[in-house]
Amino acid sequence: MKLSASASLSEGKTDLIIPVFTGFKPDELVSHIPPGSKAAFAEAASDFKADSGSHITLYGSDIRIILLGLGKPNGASFPAYFRAARKFSASSGHQMRENITLLLAHLSKPERAGEALVNGLITGTYELGSWKEKAGEKPHVLDSDLSAITLLTDKTGDDAQQLVDAAVRGQLVALAQKQAMHLVNMPSNIQTPQFLAGFANDWGTQYGQKVTIFSGEEIEEKGLHALAAVNRGSEYPAEFIVMEYEPENATEDTKTVGLVGKGITFDTGGLSIKPSDGMYFMKSDMGGAAVVLGFMEAAASLKLDTRFVAVIPVTDNLIDSRSFKPSDIIGSYSGKTIEIFNTDAEGRLILADGLSWLTDNYKVDELFDFATLTGATVRALGYAAAGLFTPNDELAASISKSADSCGERVWRFPIWDEYKSDLHSDVADVRHASPSPVAGGITAAKFLEMFTREHPSWAHFDIAGVAFGESEFGKHKNGTAWGIRLLVDYFSKK
Ligand code: BES
Ligand code: MN
Ligand code: ZN
Repeated sequence: MKLSASASLSEGKTDLIIPVFTGFKPDELVSHIPPGSKAAFAEAASDFKADSGSHITLYGSDIRIILLGLGKPNGASFPAYFRAARKFSASSGHQMRENITLLLAHLSKPERAGEALVNGLITGTYELGSWKEKAGEKPHVLDSDLSAITLLTDKTGDDAQQLVDAAVRGQLVALAQKQAMHLVNMPSNIQTPQFLAGFANDWGTQYGQKVTIFSGEEIEEKGLHALAAVNRGSEYPAEFIVMEYEPENATEDTKTVGLVGKGITFDTGGLSIKPSDGMYFMKSDMGGAAVVLGFMEAAASLKLDTRFVAVIPVTDNLIDSRSFKPSDIIGSYSGKTIEIFNTDAEGRLILADGLSWLTDNYKVDELFDFATLTGATVRALGYAAAGLFTPNDELAASISKSADSCGERVWRFPIWDEYKSDLHSDVADVRHASPSPVAGGITAAKFLEMFTREHPSWAHFDIAGVAFGESEFGKHKNGTAWGIRLLVDYFSKK
């Protein structure tokens, strides 16, 4: 895919995409329309309501004009551009022309718009049916190396180059998002912990990162007892993935950020078994791992100037005579003993080891974890936002700002110490889940907090409601790659 900017429409066949908000003025666009199409454009545009996700196509001799509806202009525009472009691309993949022209000249923030539109057009090329007999036979037009997007703008020189750079960002982030979506959609018989570790190793190395993996018996040897406990019921050994991204020209002052992702390749609930309806979705229980892996690719391809250390503990949560049981007392990397209450609260156990391993072995300025952690957070927020849990008000405000602007929203919950009493154990240092049916997302976060060594800039994202959802890609839920865009925006802030 080639991305460039131009002040005029090129010769030859192209799809000219014109993104418009509800209430747009056709008159203001006429100057961008080729002479032969002006009259037809004026007529069609006056009828077009520009509802989000709608579009109309006007046929000319070489140029097809596509008016792309963005909906009402309210608040953040990034998600409006992104959603419309993705939906259009996903539904028109085979009819699109290889040469796309994107009109940006009429937009007030063309950089951000171009980035979002390109990001949407490219994520829209994602195909769900990788395991169908005829997979890959009819690829999306924009997946071809011959495809090109030209940004139509009156800007020139450096200003035009900035538009192209922003569009390239949209493209690079889309590639990472597609990969993360694919990982989440992969079932656990194919995506074993060994598969995920191999993937992280190949991928990280390809992007110039240092990858270290502890496998099988090394997990106990390193003291990762909580991960080992969850793994006891599994046919596959656990894996503990560490990836490090170092920016070019990094110095001692370069900010270092730790990222931890929950990598449960399948969650049956263990002996505290889940009802079968809910279990069907549990191949997505490595959604946190997918965000972190996808973001590590984006960090490298965008050359972000922060150092990142990613930790991904991986296992499935299965049932066997060796499985860990409710009331078992297990160890952890931190040294704290944990009384098991319910084996379906497995995510916080593997994250606990990930968080304390990271804080003990690295000095990180910020510490984020991503996990499909609790049904309670889904009941509270539905599918519209992830739960954000952090002791740090400034960090919460800054994350929320990025989240609102990119459309991957978060909503903050309190983590007051009142909630800690639910985790009291008479026999061990802590009981890992609360028997009470209330505030389940918060008590999970309180448990994690005990393993962060009180890191002042720790933030936990409970993505159970947003990692796997409805989309234009299929009739059933599928991976969303939620969180990659948010992290990219947050760490690109100047
Ligand atoms: N993976 C689940 C959480 C989940 C629920 C993710 C729905 C996506 C959609 C997690 O491991 C879990 O089972 N949590 C339990 C915790 C409880 C036993 C304390 C839950 O939320 O019910
Ligand atoms: Mn569970
Ligand atoms: Zn789980």
